[in-house]
Amino acid sequence: MHIFLLCSAFNGLSQRFFVELTDAGHQVTVEVFTGDDALEQRLAANPPDIIVAPFLKRAIPDCIWQRFRCFILHPGIVGDRGPSSLDWAILEGWHEWGVTLLEANAVMDAGDIWATRTFPLPPLAKSRIYRHLVTDAAVACLWELIAKLQQGQQHGDPLDYDRATTRGRERAALPISARTLDWQCDPTDLLLRKIRASDSLPGAPTQLAGVPVRVFNAWQAEATVASRRGHVGEIFARDGDALCVATLDGALWIGHLRRSDKHACAQVKLPAAVALRDELAACASLPVLDAQHPNKPWLETRGRVAILHFPLLNGAFTVRDSQNLTALFARAAGDSSVDAIVLAGGDDFWSNGIELNSVHVAANPAEEGWASINAIDDFAEAILTCRDKLVISAVNANAGAGGAMLMLAADRVFMRAGVVINPHYKTMGLHGSEFWTLTLPWRADAEAAVALSENCLPISARQAAALGLVDSVLDIPREAFLETVVSHASAMIAPAALPDSHKAKARAQEAMRRGRPLDAYRREELSRMRGNFFADDLHFSSRRTAFVIKQPPCQTPEHLQRHNAAVAAHLAGLRRDKSEEEV
Ligand code: COA
Repeated sequence: MHIFLLCSAFNGLSQRFFVELTDAGHQVTVEVFTGDDALEQRLAANPPDIIVAPFLKRAIPDCIWQRFRCFILHPGIVGDRGPSSLDWAILEGWHEWGVTLLEANAVMDAGDIWATRTFPLPPLAKSRIYRHLVTDAAVACLWELIAKLQQGQQHGDPLDYDRATTRGRERAALPISARTLDWQCDPTDLLLRKIRASDSLPGAPTQLAGVPVRVFNAWQAEATVASRRGHVGEIFARDGDALCVATLDGALWIGHLRRSDKHACAQVKLPAAVALRDELAACASLPVLDAQHPNKPWLETRGRVAILHFPLLNGAFTVRDSQNLTALFARAAGDSSVDAIVLAGGDDFWSNGIELNSVHVAANPAEEGWASINAIDDFAEAILTCRDKLVISAVNANAGAGGAMLMLAADRVFMRAGVVINPHYKTMGLHGSEFWTLTLPWRADAEAAVALSENCLPISARQAAALGLVDSVLDIPREAFLETVVSHASAMIAPAALPDSHKAKARAQEAMRRGRPLDAYRREELSRMRGNFFADDLHFSSRRTAFVIKQPPCQTPEHLQRHNAAVAAHLAGLRRDKSEEEV
């Protein structure tokens, strides 16, 4: 089939649809829809079999759905309608939620239903639920739709509010007043639900240290911490860059904030203490507590396997994060009771490379970018030069840019089926580092390596394995993945298996010895990166700004347009061949 993905942004869910459909042999084009009038013309020039909208914030114009079959993924249960589905479900504390795939018609979210799935709704932030539960359920709905269409089914089920199974209803957008944190009245549980429901966008509004802010990424403080609290709504402790705020019945750790005033850092989501740096400097120093910070890297040992966790928010590494990781890795590498080190990443992302928000707000972004890249390179170098231990990347969540390349520094890469990676830097205006010019060609052939870095398209775990980037794809639930990789690691370091498991390392080290020294790769990559940061020769500055302040795209990005043109040419070739056969 020729499937046209129509989306407001080529986000994680749209990328997953793209790789799933492409892997299954469908021809997939992608349009980032900005509401322009020429969409109908573009579609008419290369008419798709169906249009699927995995993530669309505006209505499909009448002229489009009347002419083409359009299917919309709605992140809500049957009957739910409106733009804030998940937000309402989280705020109201639903225990079960779902997704529905419906056909577009004249009424938004009210078309015939082709597939639906439900899942238990855990008390987590909106973006994590979207990235995992919504995305997996949406993919299941997509395959049900394709199967039904291929079997010739013509209609979905009409939406019927009289059915007992129709539990959703139409909802307005969640108003900002319902998201606003009221420290004097809201119990901790409600504050948390407001923050989780507003995660990613738009954030939960409040005032902290006298500054209007939007709050993201919060978790409940332990009773021992809460017992030290002062006035409700006041910051009374810190742990790294997380700040602890007193609530009516306890305390909340706040990981990230976005200022809403006219400060130079406004508009950018930052670690809480960084966003309020000026205000914190002006008052008495806060007690520093050691909390159970969910974004802290940590090391765990199971038998002879060390596991390095790095659950950093959005998988983004600041200078300090990379330094911490290098130090933790060195500790595991220097431990004679350890034979294998598993790089576990985090639940949301394995890694997305350097943290661009802190680069953006730094007094000198070029210097900060340079420091960040050097720090992450130190981590990559520590992995690459770890001589006597087997290092395994256990990729249970998506990875992009430097993070996708970083995983290749390990001896072995295990990836969960369903993971999507973006192993390229060009769209951010960077040449790239993390020794990718060494590790990518080790694994992928030259043509594939060039295609990956030039086409800038996401790829699935299976494609990554077919290209040689990944050694093993595990088609198992997310919760079982790490445990399974650790079992594999233990088996691989068992005395009988050791020679085999070290083959990859020996091969890599041999290549390093025969080829240029490691340092030469680093120097060459970094000399190009220096140009990117300090001379802005690939427009890193404007690309980073657009990314960090979430500038809405004004058209389909160029790399997707190039991909669409290639698909159109391929389809035109097929049509030509078919008509020649008929003659
Ligand atoms: N620095 C800071 N924040 C980052 C980040 C980074 N390197 N990578 C992702 N994020 C943030 C996004 O801003 C977004 O935050 P939000 O929840 O506040 O909106 C969140 O992580 C999710 O990212 P998003 O872009 O929405 O996810 P996606 O699944 O659509 O796309 C990527 C994934 C990797 C393609 C995309 O995030 C990306 O291009 N990241 C930048 C990678 C990069 O260039 N790194 C620097 C070079 S090493």
